[in-house]
Amino acid sequence: MEIIKNFVDNIHNDDYKRNYGFPILQGESMVFPGGRRTQSLNGEWNFSVDQYDNCLRAKWFLEQETNDEGRSVPLDYAFDEWDNIKVPGVWNLAKPEYFYYEGPAVYSRRFSLEKENKGRVFLQFGAVSYEARIFLNGAFLGIHKGGSTPFSVEITHHLKAENRLIVVADNTRRKEQIPSENTDWFLYGGIYRDVSLLFVPDVYIKSMRASLIDRETGAIEVTALIDGDINRTDSEVTFSIPELNIEDNFPVSADGTCTKIVNADKLSLWSPENPKRYQVYLTLREKNEIKDKVSDVIGFRTIETKDRKILLNGRQVFLRGACLHEETEDHGKAVTREDIREAFQRAKKMNCNFLRLAHYPHTQWVSEIADEEGILLWEEIPVYWWIDFSNPQALNDARNQLSELISRDFNRASVIIWSVGNENPDTDARYHFMKDLAQTAKKEDPYRLISAACLVDSVNLRIADRLERHLDVIGFNEYYGWYDPDYEKLTEILNGSRPEKPVIISEFGADGYKTDQKLRKSVRGSEEEQEEIYKRQVELFGKTEYIQGTAPWILYDYRTPKRLGAYQKGYNIKGLVTADRKREKPAFAVMKDFYEEVRINERNDKGTV
Ligand code: GCU
Repeated sequence: MEIIKNFVDNIHNDDYKRNYGFPILQGESMVFPGGRRTQSLNGEWNFSVDQYDNCLRAKWFLEQETNDEGRSVPLDYAFDEWDNIKVPGVWNLAKPEYFYYEGPAVYSRRFSLEKENKGRVFLQFGAVSYEARIFLNGAFLGIHKGGSTPFSVEITHHLKAENRLIVVADNTRRKEQIPSENTDWFLYGGIYRDVSLLFVPDVYIKSMRASLIDRETGAIEVTALIDGDINRTDSEVTFSIPELNIEDNFPVSADGTCTKIVNADKLSLWSPENPKRYQVYLTLREKNEIKDKVSDVIGFRTIETKDRKILLNGRQVFLRGACLHEETEDHGKAVTREDIREAFQRAKKMNCNFLRLAHYPHTQWVSEIADEEGILLWEEIPVYWWIDFSNPQALNDARNQLSELISRDFNRASVIIWSVGNENPDTDARYHFMKDLAQTAKKEDPYRLISAACLVDSVNLRIADRLERHLDVIGFNEYYGWYDPDYEKLTEILNGSRPEKPVIISEFGADGYKTDQKLRKSVRGSEEEQEEIYKRQVELFGKTEYIQGTAPWILYDYRTPKRLGAYQKGYNIKGLVTADRKREKPAFAVMKDFYEEVRINERNDKGTV
């Protein structure tokens, strides 16, 4: 009988997760959201930590208050009486006792549809850290793995007039996960990005991608995928850009794909100086009847490399960057649009045109606002430091996170680089794992640059990582002056290396702590030492022709359990600005001046005024 079985499962069954493994993967789960009707499920949810995973063990989500004899079963949960918690948000900042919590936690809310819906309904999450198991009205809908990418699950046939939604979020660090157990950032937990219902017709546009593939002719490659039972021969899609009087029809092939090259000869190209975007529509018709219509706002540009240069719209560009984690003191990882705009303003004040979004996909608001404000972006999946490179499940998870990121941001002009990892030990297993990811990224998106933040060959003092042959741009992290005081090694590396591709210094820097006068000389990690290290670094960069971008680590101080020194106190203090975002450290001005010089030299080289 279910109750007895529940009881046995609850205490005697260590394989209690065997029924909760159905994966929610990009291929099935992603639905193109642009221009669709949605219903927000943001707001106050009920919440409790669940350290022993009892919701799964005892199947609380079934909510079987009574059994066959009508007897009420003693309840160990109280969804509607639990604490309230704000969604989106990180549980770590919801209550002091939740700050360091890592593990399973249960979110619950009720909802009903705001209005009658005839078509299909998807439940869409911006991101949940790290695993999310979704239960609707007692039914298990699937598990999503990966704490930084969006996913959705169809709920059309599970909906009732009044619905109970339960999400078991689990941010336990595990060896086989991406990232694994050891990172230099604070692992927040929870449903920290938007949750919404997405309404689509029975037959709908699952994806729509548009890339400028030839600047001279204005050729735009448009690809779309149609899902649902439709008569392909009587169907077509129309791609339109009203501002350019473009309206182009093309057929739906038997497998639901639609591909066409559309010529837009009067395009104004997107760039940081001119972040021009166009309203774009894709309409699906069957026998001339409109079945679905989606929209997006897209900037068109080309990004490529030539020899050891990076070319934006055919012109060399130096990436004047900074690294950025997804965090503010007040919101943790659940950053707001205002937080993002504030970071962009600070970066632009430092004369940046580029940000390296470390070390995982940030909210899609970053790339949307970067499109609007004209900032170039490096986006990265968290294949970070040691990973279980020999584990096929780890590779599947990394591939899925990469596909979900590419699927989400494909139409964002600001995104120019997909990075497949950071500072990974150069073993054979790592090489094959990351070669696969680099090839997957290039296959899914032939029109962007592929990179990774590699480690320098510190034995031979060369930029020499065998992964480079699969990258378009070589990222490398170095901390000479800080972790290794010998600048001569950096000089040797830069002068002795012969990279065949553009190089970005994807990290450099040092701690910067504001000390009072009497400690100034003896303190390691003073702001003065940080400033000195920056001066020595940028001097060397200026002399190295193949360096085509720099991204100092890091724009803001940020929380990390790894940094427990007298002056760190749980923060990585390599920021150029304090964690409260109030004060720029002296090294900020060093970068600002360096980038101003780069910008002036670029302008002179191009002969632009
Ligand atoms: C590494 C790593 C960063 C880390 C930084 C540091 O390069 O990529 O995530 O925070 O160094 O040591 O502070």
